[in-house]
Amino acid sequence: MPERDPRWWEHESLRIQQERVCLDGSALDELARQHGTPLYVYSRATLQRQLGRMQAALAAITQRYRIYYAVKANRCSGVLRAVHDVLGIGVDTCSPRELELALESDFPTELISFNAGMLSDGDLARVASRGVHCTLDTFSALRRYGALVPRDTPVGLRFDPGVIDAYGGRQKTAYGGGKFGFELSDCQRALDAAREAGLRVDSVHMHVGWGLPEESAAEIEGAFARLAAVARQVPELQTVNVGGGLGGRYRAEDRPLMLSTWSGMLERHLVPLGVTIACEPGTFIAASAGVLLVQVNTVEERRGTCWLGVDAGHAINPCPALYGIPLEIVHLRTPLAPPVHEYTVAGHINESVDIWARGCRLPEVREGDFLALLPAGAYGASMASDHCLRGQVKELVL
Ligand SMILES: Cc1ncc(COP(=O)(O)O)c(C=O)c1O
Repeated sequence: MPERDPRWWEHESLRIQQERVCLDGSALDELARQHGTPLYVYSRATLQRQLGRMQAALAAITQRYRIYYAVKANRCSGVLRAVHDVLGIGVDTCSPRELELALESDFPTELISFNAGMLSDGDLARVASRGVHCTLDTFSALRRYGALVPRDTPVGLRFDPGVIDAYGGRQKTAYGGGKFGFELSDCQRALDAAREAGLRVDSVHMHVGWGLPEESAAEIEGAFARLAAVARQVPELQTVNVGGGLGGRYRAEDRPLMLSTWSGMLERHLVPLGVTIACEPGTFIAASAGVLLVQVNTVEERRGTCWLGVDAGHAINPCPALYGIPLEIVHLRTPLAPPVHEYTVAGHINESVDIWARGCRLPEVREGDFLALLPAGAYGASMASDHCLRGQVKELVL
């Protein structure tokens, strides 16, 4: 086994400088002391760099593309501002409130997409009144939405990718065969239903899964080929939307689907359709931009395990406890010291699953020390609940 690089998580904005972990030049332990914990800190530079990378990858294969940042990943106002300030970037929303937030954040209607399922009449009425492009995935929604909007309103159809593969092979992050999307074989029926409802189908959509790995490239390519086949059945097609799915590393050994592999597949299967290629990245843009700072309140040996208790639990970041997605834990007082103990790091929620990490190798940790959990820019604060009334967390954009 090659030696694990303990600093695998460093990038242009997040690095150890003069023995302190810094995000865009700000020392994280200092920010924790100044603002209190738990605290999410986001790098505007990283958000914009990731958007720039995706723009460059798409511009290299087509002149017609549109990036809609997935608001569900992180809706902090400073994050939305960072996205807004990159020319031509839109936002994807999945609930009436997200849509209203996008409008309040000054995104123009034509740069907002709406894509959600299991919508109530009230949801559909709120969406219809805003005039943004809507992607639907049930016959019921097509019928009810058609009754609310002017004749010939364009809509998208979302399809089931069929692929059941995602980060760590986990069902919880896979989308195929689940509640989302029309069956591919139902394309003609969905087109007929849309026409009967007075809607014009102008796009098809497929979100394959979360945290797609490079090793699944062949399966993902198969899904894009199926999407291309279904797209060819749509007479007035303007856009093919491939959703999100690109991620980053959560552990040193992760090999996420590379941007170049992804864009190569788009070039082979979807660019030849001659329509706009759209995508809705959340994790790729936001994950590596954020860290979660917590403070250790308990260091104690119990039944042969050394436990670290911290002042945050799965209420403010469900990734490790609820999805089995690991976060790296970095000791902020001595980030360069060699690990000397294996700790189990536990949160303060009254649930036995509220564990951040087991067998976590760290330098000597003391009560009062600060830790950084990362990458934490996506699906952390945006998924916070108030379980045990422990949902409060501050957010800071650098
Ligand atoms: C329809 C849709 N689009 C985009 C996204 C964002 O995905 P990701 O965070 O993998 O980029 C999701 C995630 O759940 C989604 O369901």
